Amino acid sequence: MNKNFYITTPIYYPSAKPHMGHAYSSIVADFIARFKKIDGFNVFFLTGTDEHGLKIQRAAEKHNKDPLQFCDEISKTFKELSKILNLSNNDFIRTTEKRHHISVQNLWTILEKKGEIYLSKYSGWYSVSDEAYYLEDEIYEKNGVKLAKSSESTVEWVEEESYFFKLSKWQDKLLDFYEKNPNFVLPKTRKNEVVSFVKSGLKDLSVSRKSFSWGIQVPTNKDHVIYVWLDALTNYISALNYPDKNNELYKNYWPADIHMIGKDILRFHAVYWPAFLLAADLEPPKRIYGHGWILSGDEKMSKSKGNILDPIEIINDYGLDPLRYYLLKEVSFGNDGNISNEKLENCINSDLANNYGNLCQRVISFCEK
Ligand code: ME8
Ligand code: MG
Repeated sequence: MNKNFYITTPIYYPSAKPHMGHAYSSIVADFIARFKKIDGFNVFFLTGTDEHGLKIQRAAEKHNKDPLQFCDEISKTFKELSKILNLSNNDFIRTTEKRHHISVQNLWTILEKKGEIYLSKYSGWYSVSDEAYYLEDEIYEKNGVKLAKSSESTVEWVEEESYFFKLSKWQDKLLDFYEKNPNFVLPKTRKNEVVSFVKSGLKDLSVSRKSFSWGIQVPTNKDHVIYVWLDALTNYISALNYPDKNNELYKNYWPADIHMIGKDILRFHAVYWPAFLLAADLEPPKRIYGHGWILSGDEKMSKSKGNILDPIEIINDYGLDPLRYYLLKEVSFGNDGNISNEKLENCINSDLANNYGNLCQRVISFCEK
């Protein structure tokens, strides 16, 4: 029996300091990693930061910083948070690392050699905040501004030469793959979303940009940088020393058992990522789990909305384990959930102090007698 287990968190954008939403993904992934370890598995648990693309380049410009220096500073705060959360991660990958560049350029070269990538021109909508392309029917207009329906982030018109990945070619193979692997996307409601998106028809995907430079160069064309999502997703194998498929990490841990992600980035993980891998003759991961959002009021907590709760402040005030307990118990796994000081205090008082505290007190005084 295979006793290896590989679990990942998303690699977060170091465009601003981490918030409770990031802490949530890391805590649930860590919870599963720890459980598997207790269950006798050799666990490899990966987290990290996603440092290229226009979103980061613009954030750095806004702070008058060189992008790498900017990423160094903010990536460090994510790494510090992983320590404060006492994560059991085995590695922390940054996409600005050499090992990752090698891996991404290798994957690109394979895809290009196999004829899965071709040069053409992109014209359409792009959200820098989501680093995502949107079709006309995926956007709407509010007060004269065009927004993506799914995330409410603003989109801008892009028209430039671009390499495309032949995603359309993989539509039926993906549907086949979902059918043969019914638990590939969980929870079930998310799987249905993915299947209907793929069934509605896949267009080829723009996988390079020409109008800015903060990214990994296309190996065969120095005017282009590789689309940040193709770059970012590859972190899951670059941390296993891909393209060296004979090294122990890759041999033991690929395909990953779970990519733990938020539902906002489901399409990238459940559609694009398996398509890239299948096209390169690599195995797709075994499972994508798209958890719900931590809300602030009834809106998603996010740095672009500015409605964030700082996990470090909460931990300083209440302690790490009470926070972990709250998130795992009070946020029904898979669904959206809320956190506020008041809710956290109620949970700590009733469950931890009253129930659990009382139990401990009774058992211990009983033992003493
Ligand atoms: O999307 N509730 O990075 P990101 C729950 N770099 N989870 C939340 C959350 C919230 N309110 N806000 C964020 C990216 N998250 C890409 C990922 S992976 C190859 C590249 C968590 O910094 C959740 O896991 O925007 C979400 O999917 C992720 O952080 C997005 O973080
Ligand atoms: Mg985001």
